[in-house]
Amino acid sequence: MTTIAITGAAGFIGTHVSEMLLSRGDTVVGLDNFNDFYDPAIKRANAKHLQRWEGFRLVEGDIQSPESLDAVLGSGDVDAIIHLAARAGVRPSVEDPSLYADVNVRGTIQVLEAAVRYGIERFVFASSSSVYGANTKTPFHEEDPVELPESPYAATKRAGELLCRTYHHLYATTGPLQSLAVLRFFTVYGPGQRPEMAISKFTKRMIQGQTIPMFGDGSSLRDYTYVDDIVAGVVAALDRSQGYRIFNLGGGQPVRLDAMIAAVAKAVGVEPVIEELPMQPGDVQVTVSDCSRAREELGYLPQTSLNDGISEYVKWHMMNRHDSDR
Ligand SMILES: NC(=O)c1ccc[n+]([C@@H]2O[C@H](COP(=O)([O-])OP(=O)(O)OC[C@H]3O[C@@H](n4cnc5c(N)ncnc54)[C@H](O)[C@@H]3O)[C@@H](O)[C@H]2O)c1
Repeated sequence: MTTIAITGAAGFIGTHVSEMLLSRGDTVVGLDNFNDFYDPAIKRANAKHLQRWEGFRLVEGDIQSPESLDAVLGSGDVDAIIHLAARAGVRPSVEDPSLYADVNVRGTIQVLEAAVRYGIERFVFASSSSVYGANTKTPFHEEDPVELPESPYAATKRAGELLCRTYHHLYATTGPLQSLAVLRFFTVYGPGQRPEMAISKFTKRMIQGQTIPMFGDGSSLRDYTYVDDIVAGVVAALDRSQGYRIFNLGGGQPVRLDAMIAAVAKAVGVEPVIEELPMQPGDVQVTVSDCSRAREELGYLPQTSLNDGISEYVKWHMMNRHDSDR
């Protein structure tokens, strides 16, 4: 039996990844600090859901605390770490960059240090398409330059990638961190997604008959990735990646912002009233993934179209309305 430690296990992606691993028979030790970036009650409900599995153990604590990490890894039976815990979100990072540096950079160092301390050989790090920043060459390829981050969030994720590369270089030959997969997620959505994300906010506003604030003229392009596809990519990286390797995990189908709004409106069953606003600081115009490396090396093949994925999300939102409206 394999035991996987997952930081940020009670978050959106962490819950889905945990559930997939538990359902295939792995044991999961989750670490989460239930912070108030969004309503912690949502994360508590996620953790409660995971605790129905016999193979799930929760440690409530902070990735910045070596003691918390000892509580996760101290049993000595953990085979791999999936490091998802972070302060996410581009716009809030402009407001509080130090917090993002503390959690996403210093916190990642603590997780890597703990991996070395306990001799963990396999490590997966959640990075972000935002590292491509002002890159104008599309689609984005893993070998493209990433020296133009547009937000503190993007800069901290790039720093996390570089630290992963440094730790792999320093320690892999002696055992720990032999496989270190950096995964650049492209706008992940689906049931349970963070309430401050655009698809969640638009769904809620449409149901309540409110206008839809659209930043820019609607032509910005995003590569939306359904959460089940991301989970498949994370698990494939955990099982198959070798050495230090960066992979894009995208949906493969870039979609205009106005088309995404139309897809949400169709799933909700309303005619949206759009209010056009200026682009926000930190936002980038285009994110489009080239996922050929993940396809070739991990067998990654996104399965879910935006229309199907949004329809699943809206169904989930209707059933969990009270939770997500809190
Ligand atoms: N959702 C996306 O579209 C997306 C896109 C690119 C990258 N990512 C990355 O994927 C990861 C997961 O994102 P998500 O959307 O599930 O976000 P999320 O906020 O739902 O999940 C993150 C979890 O980490 C926990 N956490 C945060 N700081 C912590 C700390 N110091 N100690 C312990 N736990 C802590 C939070 O409480 C939360 O439960 C993040 O690293 C994020 O940057 C997400």
